[in-house]
Amino acid sequence: MDNQMPRKKVLSCIQPTGTPTLGNYLGALKNWKNISDDYDAAYAVADLHAITVRQDPKMLKKQIMEMYAMLLALGIDREKSIIFVQSHVPQHSQLAWILNCYTQFGEMSRMTQFKDKSSKHADNVNVGLFSYPVLMAADILLYKADFVPVGVYQKQHLEITRDIAERFNGIYGNVFTIPEPFIGKKGAKIMSLQDPEKKMSKSDTNVKSFISLLDKPETIIKKMKSAVTDSESCVRFDEANKPGVSNLMSIYACCTGLSYEQIEKEFESKGYGDFKQKVGEAVVEELRDVQEEFNRLIKDEKYLKECMKDGAEKATRIAQRTLEKVMKKVGYVQI
Ligand code: TRP
Repeated sequence: MDNQMPRKKVLSCIQPTGTPTLGNYLGALKNWKNISDDYDAAYAVADLHAITVRQDPKMLKKQIMEMYAMLLALGIDREKSIIFVQSHVPQHSQLAWILNCYTQFGEMSRMTQFKDKSSKHADNVNVGLFSYPVLMAADILLYKADFVPVGVYQKQHLEITRDIAERFNGIYGNVFTIPEPFIGKKGAKIMSLQDPEKKMSKSDTNVKSFISLLDKPETIIKKMKSAVTDSESCVRFDEANKPGVSNLMSIYACCTGLSYEQIEKEFESKGYGDFKQKVGEAVVEELRDVQEEFNRLIKDEKYLKECMKDGAEKATRIAQRTLEKVMKKVGYVQI
């Protein structure tokens, strides 16, 4: 990259709702580290978003610490990047309020995630759940992010962010950078080990269907061994007819860097037993460093809080600058 040019900015956040799965890792988190080598990256634990569904206070606190430790454990360079907790930077809530007033009820009503979640949590369809994408817009726009790595499920929220930013810029001039989805290396979509037609999900009631980032090596191997495949006994990539085997091949490819062709060759005359064992071992290897680092960090609350404080300070400096500009444009009195 040209050293004369300022680096492009990337922002992403993850909710502290339980240990991420192998799917979250291979599909998103692993890329966060790679991205941070080439961009000015800011990553946050989206703990304000988390309370749009009811959370137990003790659990929430624990999960925020754990998710933060997990982000540090990814090996992102903390001198170059910012890793922080959303609720430590009040500008997120402040900008979200302002943006609420530039967002239409109708456009929020059309968000598919709102429709899904409000039917799943019918007893708690709160206003925060409704305006969740506006808070997400605030997260992104405060840091003037050029790119946002998001999964397919968050694409619509990024589009609404662009709409809100364009609308605001249309009224007040060039305040916000219009963010684009980050199209990086093909982020793998990892499916359930028990039902490979479904996405791997940590909220799946069958724990054998997903691998948690903190699963022990023997658990990982065991879960891999019980993964659903087919009766053909041939390692071949064919998502339509062999979804289970194809999913394991994706996982193996992500962990080893091998192509599907190379994998097919490697297991040409071998059975599924050997194949699954090898995939399990590759996953164990892939997660080893992250797990070790996580287990070290999670015991050191003092250190984690120091990092949080440092991250919050850096994030606040950027966020405050944007917020002040916005407030000035809207017509607030600066003192
Ligand atoms: N809503 C996102 C999710 O659940 C998390 C999130 C919050 C986010 N703010 C963001 C993602 C800003 C990208 C950018 O996955």
